Amino acid sequence: MVNFIMSGACGRMGKVIAEAASQRSDVNLVCGVDVANDKTDFPLYSDFSSITEKADVIIDFSNPAALDGLLAYALEHEVPCVLCTTGYSEDQIAAVDKAAEKIAIFRSGNMSLGINLLIELSKMASKVFGQDFDVEIVEKHHNKKIDAPSGTALMIADGISSVRTDDPEYIYDRHSIRKKRSTNEIGISSIRGGTIVGEHDVIFAGDNEVLTISHQAQSRNLFAVGAINAAAFLAGKPAGNYDMSDLLKERY
Ligand SMILES: NC(=O)c1ccc[n+]([C@@H]2O[C@H](COP(=O)([O-])OP(=O)(O)OC[C@H]3O[C@@H](n4cnc5c(N)ncnc54)[C@H](O)[C@@H]3O)[C@@H](O)[C@H]2O)c1
Repeated sequence: MVNFIMSGACGRMGKVIAEAASQRSDVNLVCGVDVANDKTDFPLYSDFSSITEKADVIIDFSNPAALDGLLAYALEHEVPCVLCTTGYSEDQIAAVDKAAEKIAIFRSGNMSLGINLLIELSKMASKVFGQDFDVEIVEKHHNKKIDAPSGTALMIADGISSVRTDDPEYIYDRHSIRKKRSTNEIGISSIRGGTIVGEHDVIFAGDNEVLTISHQAQSRNLFAVGAINAAAFLAGKPAGNYDMSDLLKERY
């Protein structure tokens, strides 16, 4: 049984995870942390320093502002962390990497197996097409999402960049650029509206042919399943950085 702390317990994802965990016998939500004070059927704290329960792992879907308190607690109590929050600054990512020298940290801007497979397929397409195909990423999310572009769109762009040799430049906004596209660009466009859970299209546009690799998240539950599986995978692991590619490796 893996006991976990839910950081961001009152949020949309926190609630989905609490429900998903209650249906499983291999994980147990021991307490939550959230600045909101909703009614929960587990102990809820407003900050990590007040926690009294023992846990094997923390699952975090909250806000970048929660990171300092979370890492301080995790380092003091040597608790591995599954960090799913997006929108961290470069300094915060550096702090996460430093913490990973002492504890196991699993971080992914998208906990779905499908998206992580899409990234691997996009890397393969980039290797095959090289500079002959222009790459554009289009992401769509609900109207409550704060950050743009999505952490997932950046993960896809970073994956493609990692296999290209032409030092790709990310272009987020073309309206002020009055020149034609260059071959080393990766265009990233964001659409916000309604209740869209998350959609990502990676478009490879060549001469007379277009390949589009698409993923649609149809429910937040898929991120919850991914995060809980990551928590079960991470508990007891040695210090280091982990991500969804470590879970994918177990399957192929
Ligand atoms: N990695 C993934 O697969 C994935 C999937 C969905 C969402 N996300 C990310 O997870 C985060 C949360 O998403 P959500 O849709 O549940 O958002 P949400 O706004 O519904 O929930 C966030 C919760 O965090 C709490 N919170 C805010 N600041 C806090 C702080 N300083 N300390 C403790 N709690 C704090 C809020 O009160 C809220 O209850 C976002 O960054 C989102 O982009 C990641």
